Amino acid sequence: MPIFSVFRYNPEDGSDAFFQEFEVPEKKGMAVLEGLYYILENLDATLAFRSSCRQGVCGSCAMHINGQYRLACETQVAKMGNFVRIRPLAHMTVIRDLVVDMEPFFRQYEAIKPYLIPAEEPGDREYIQSQKDRRRIDHYVDCILCGACYGSCPVVATDEKYLGPHALMKGLRFVDDSRDGAAYERLAYLSTDNGIFRCHTIFNCQQVCPKDLDPTGAIGKLKMKSVWAKLRGKLPKTG
Ligand code: FES
Repeated sequence: MPIFSVFRYNPEDGSDAFFQEFEVPEKKGMAVLEGLYYILENLDATLAFRSSCRQGVCGSCAMHINGQYRLACETQVAKMGNFVRIRPLAHMTVIRDLVVDMEPFFRQYEAIKPYLIPAEEPGDREYIQSQKDRRRIDHYVDCILCGACYGSCPVVATDEKYLGPHALMKGLRFVDDSRDGAAYERLAYLSTDNGIFRCHTIFNCQQVCPKDLDPTGAIGKLKMKSVWAKLRGKLPKTG
């Protein structure tokens, strides 16, 4: 029977954080998230964690499982061995147990203006995008904002103003969108002190992404686009 060693912390009771062990009966095909629900429903109703879709879409169950950031709903207990150690995402304040305050993560995301900014008023016109143009952003659209890359990034750990791999990769998603008209303004913002040039190209974000996306590569592309635009005097000044 696998042992789940789960990070426990309740800032309201004043005690230190600790790992609590639970015996979880394994079923065929069982995911780590099911194990956490078993604990919640049968062993300790106070355990706190996030989940929603249970099928790798919503991104809410990202956590650190046996040394790697993973989605708990997509991680098979059978592949983890008999000991499953679970911690919350790093670089964010723990609210309780495996639940962290994701406000900084979403604040950085909001800062890159994650919506289309058309070059002209759309009016009633439909914005058509060719299949070829859509394929250019396919990869980046698939990000589910789970926070695994953010938790694994050592630059995020040391600089709370750094935009982070999730926001920067989404930045490329809009820079490269054929319907967007603000590419140079976006590049100028992404190139400021807290943006792409703070990335040390460590590849942690690429290694942990549960959707096999490549934030490191996206940041590299943005660096090239930024230098290209700057050399041609196309980057507007930022405040
Ligand atoms: S519960 Fe939605 S991704 Fe895991």
